[in-house]
Amino acid sequence: MPNDLKILSIVGARPNLPKIAPLLREMRRHPGIDPILVHTGQHYDEKLSDIFFRQMGIPAPHVNLEVGSGSHAAQTAEVLKRIEPVLIEHQPDVVVVVGDVNSTIAVALAASKLGIPVAHVEAGLRSFDRSMPEEINRVLTDAIAEYLFVTEEDAIEHLLKEGRPRESIHFVGNVMIDSLRYFLPIAQKSAIGDELRLKNGVGWKRFAVLTLHRPSNVDFTEKLSDLLNAIDQIAAELPVIFPVHPRTQNHLKQAGIRHHPDLCLIPPIGYLDFLCLLSKSSIVLTDSGGIQEETTALGVPCLTLRENTERPVTISQGTNLLVGTDPSKIVAAARAALSGTGKAGRIPPLWDGQSAERIVEILLRTVPRR
Ligand code: UD1
Repeated sequence: MPNDLKILSIVGARPNLPKIAPLLREMRRHPGIDPILVHTGQHYDEKLSDIFFRQMGIPAPHVNLEVGSGSHAAQTAEVLKRIEPVLIEHQPDVVVVVGDVNSTIAVALAASKLGIPVAHVEAGLRSFDRSMPEEINRVLTDAIAEYLFVTEEDAIEHLLKEGRPRESIHFVGNVMIDSLRYFLPIAQKSAIGDELRLKNGVGWKRFAVLTLHRPSNVDFTEKLSDLLNAIDQIAAELPVIFPVHPRTQNHLKQAGIRHHPDLCLIPPIGYLDFLCLLSKSSIVLTDSGGIQEETTALGVPCLTLRENTERPVTISQGTNLLVGTDPSKIVAAARAALSGTGKAGRIPPLWDGQSAERIVEILLRTVPRR
């Protein structure tokens, strides 16, 4: 009998949590796996971290590195420095990192320098826009990871072009959609519809959901103000619910931008409330990566307020439309989607709720024990 497989998994920022939840659930089903969870502390607020642990049943991390906020260099360097002794102490057989945040590349780099194999979940996504900090994180993480788990077929081509070996690439589907499928029935019981007065006697009213947090959209007052002007025109037609990320909140406060009364700004909300809102909305406007995928899985029209996307399958097969940040284009695309002439979509291959199972099976079968 081989020794137990010791898998050390990393979470750092909010979008990592719905990706790690199904992986940990699956790992804990196998008696031959010894799972260790480390939180880097990149996100630390109750609403960006703790509530996700509680709602998704993620076990408390063995270690929290408590790196907190900072410049990219400072945050990445802190994770790199603080994770090294943890890796040396636990001696995992493999380190699992997800997504494209600063914690992802920092831990991948530390593990790789210690000769510990790295598995990257959500490998191969490319926006080809190096001004996005996440793009740098993706390219570098994929360059050093031994196991490249991809969510969509374009990612395979990108990795092969970058010289990654075919045998290290595994098309497994999308773990975030595992979470969506698992939690949707629970999310439907959320009271958020009543709390935000989105329901009347007969059911849900029509409403839109907005999220904005990309530095390129929210860090510059003129850009943020133009975007909110466009959203104001949509809010004149139906309520727009806008859970505001702390980065965006900081800039809104500084800029003092006024907005339409039916553009409803609320603090960040938990996973279940957010999933409920997404699933009941008529349209979603976002600059997030993950939300482009969640709306495709839910069949809800999505307008992406960016010039590019690293998730092209949400465009070629899903409900996502890349509209950029020109206010007149945003308003026109929203009106088209709301009048029913928007884009239809289908669910991409392997977004079936079983991606974590595939990943854990591959790790169990192929990772050498130390
Ligand atoms: C990070 C990720 C981004 C991801 C996003 C999801 C990187 C490079 N960026 O961006 O890919 O889409 O998370 O949210 O890793 N703050 C709080 N509370 C917290 C955390 C942050 O108030 O718990 C505030 C701080 O003022 C901080 C700012 O938000 O300076 C930005 O946080 P940071 O982690 O630097 O980047 P995000 O914009 O959240």
